[in-house]
Amino acid sequence: MSDLSSNIAAWMTVIQRRTETALDHCLPPAALAPTRLHEAMRYSVLGGGKRMRPLLCHAAGEALGADPRVVDTAACAVELIHAYSLVHDDMPCMDDDALRRGRPTCHVEFDEATALLVGDALQTQAFQLLAESELPLITPSCQRRLSMLALLAHAAGSRGMAGGQAIDLAAVGMALTVEELEFMHIHKTGALIRAAVLLGAHCGDADDATLQALGHYANRAGLLFQVVDDILDAESNTATLGKTAGKDAANDKPTYVSMLGLTRAKELCARLRAEAHEALDACLLDTGRLAGLTDYIAERTF
Ligand code: IPE
Ligand code: IPE
Ligand code: MG
Ligand code: MG
Ligand code: MG
Repeated sequence: MSDLSSNIAAWMTVIQRRTETALDHCLPPAALAPTRLHEAMRYSVLGGGKRMRPLLCHAAGEALGADPRVVDTAACAVELIHAYSLVHDDMPCMDDDALRRGRPTCHVEFDEATALLVGDALQTQAFQLLAESELPLITPSCQRRLSMLALLAHAAGSRGMAGGQAIDLAAVGMALTVEELEFMHIHKTGALIRAAVLLGAHCGDADDATLQALGHYANRAGLLFQVVDDILDAESNTATLGKTAGKDAANDKPTYVSMLGLTRAKELCARLRAEAHEALDACLLDTGRLAGLTDYIAERTF
């Protein structure tokens, strides 16, 4: 993170803190029945994670003059879906991981049935939040809120994250083409990254051309995010990552590292980073925050 400006780092800390508070408020209290489920939901969402999707949501919202209190709602909705995807991703029937965000995974700390229900409940909580929020999310009509609900549903579903996860599981032990690998990554990870950016933009005053330009940016940033994840899995260690390093090779997953090797995977990152910046330049907005986050995604160490 050497040349990342202290400006963006300070802003990230502010957004991460307000996201933590907002997530705390939107989750049911642990003391409310059914207490074990609520405790497990809070365990899986709070107190960890980079909050990359909320950061992207706020950065896009800020570029379009959105009220940050409105963006909090959208940012929490997408983070709840992300947290659910991690809980299920770690289960024995998927990647079978015991460590997440430096702690035992949900099914290890609780049990498998609870982890399954945590995912179910976090997903519906996300849509409930977007639908029920009392904040002035809709200006001037409820059409915008419906668009946001549809956008998140599409990004999370079988033609988004869940579909990408299905491809990931079906690809174990297979050699995919680079096109197939890109398709998988753009779905399993890119879809929610794109939703985060576009939901933030929807909270502000975004026209169709701006949404399209930001969508193009988010496609590049989302793919970059997962290529870096593949590289870190191969190159970093468990203590730094807070999740078990080397799991992709152990699980025989096709990744950019297994398909291209580390050097070419890193060259691809440099290209995606440049393409993401070019896409931001084409947005004709003040996208300084998104540019800073793009550099963070490329340079991150966990
Ligand atoms: C991990 O996501 C899973 C992927 C989609 C690559 P993050 O790296 O954003 O995980 P947290 O939220 O910071 O723990
Ligand atoms: C996870 O990809 C993508 C989703 C959870 C949707 P990975 O399986 O590579 O994520 P990590 O490495 O376990 O965080
Ligand atoms: Mg996985
Ligand atoms: Mg995994
Ligand atoms: Mg991974």
